[in-house]
Amino acid sequence: MSARGWLVVIALGVLAGSLAFNWAVRPDFSRPNYAVFTEMASSVAYESQSSTAPVPVGTALAAPFAIPRELPPLHYDASEQSARRAGTELHNPFGAGDGAALARGQKVFATFCQVCHGAGGLGDGPVVRRGVPPPPSLLATNARSLPDGRIFHVITYGQGNMASYASQVDRDDRWRAVRFIRSLQAAQAPDAQPQQAARPARAAQPPEAAR
Ligand code: HEC
Repeated sequence: MSARGWLVVIALGVLAGSLAFNWAVRPDFSRPNYAVFTEMASSVAYESQSSTAPVPVGTALAAPFAIPRELPPLHYDASEQSARRAGTELHNPFGAGDGAALARGQKVFATFCQVCHGAGGLGDGPVVRRGVPPPPSLLATNARSLPDGRIFHVITYGQGNMASYASQVDRDDRWRAVRFIRSLQAAQAPDAQPQQAARPARAAQPPEAAR
């Protein structure tokens, strides 16, 4: 037989072999698949609002939305008045001596805040050097005078040019970031307060030149 003939024979053999294999391992559609996590495949179904529900009726199922336990809603909005109220009503659950909270706060600050506020809080982060309006120094008198609850409010609802970081930074981490800002402020002698970081004199340059 010619080489071409052998090729045809081999090709038909491969085809027949794969068809036979498919037939051998064919799925049986009359039976359910093998379930690895049975809880997900066949969870217990309860009638919502029924008394057999695994949560007490009158709490989670009766509320308009399911609210995670121990995370009560914040009754504030983005207004100045609300920010003042947060300053008097909300208190940092992490004390000044909480080293773990401080370390975590530093990490949160480095991840979410430093890009604008700068590593030392002076308002000289990298995006400011690229032309974004600089935030006020967190070491200035104004930021020092803001109560913890008000800084929490700034992070939660934003302020002026600063957007809300509520969706990126959870509540505890916001308080830890506040702790870190307090430690930055404490490390700087009050009489040596730097004023707001000078805005870089690059207004006349096209953005490319500042790279
Ligand atoms: C995109 C840049 C940007 C990022 C990121 C950012 N901020 Fe700001 N922040 C600003 C600007 C701009 C202001 C000034 C807002 C205003 O009043 O117009 C500000 C204001 C503040 C103030 C109030 C200061 C004052 O004296 O009024 C605090 C406190 C603050 N930011 C904390 C944070 C923290 C904490 C984070 C991280 C979770 C953060 N910011 C992330 C830009 C930023």
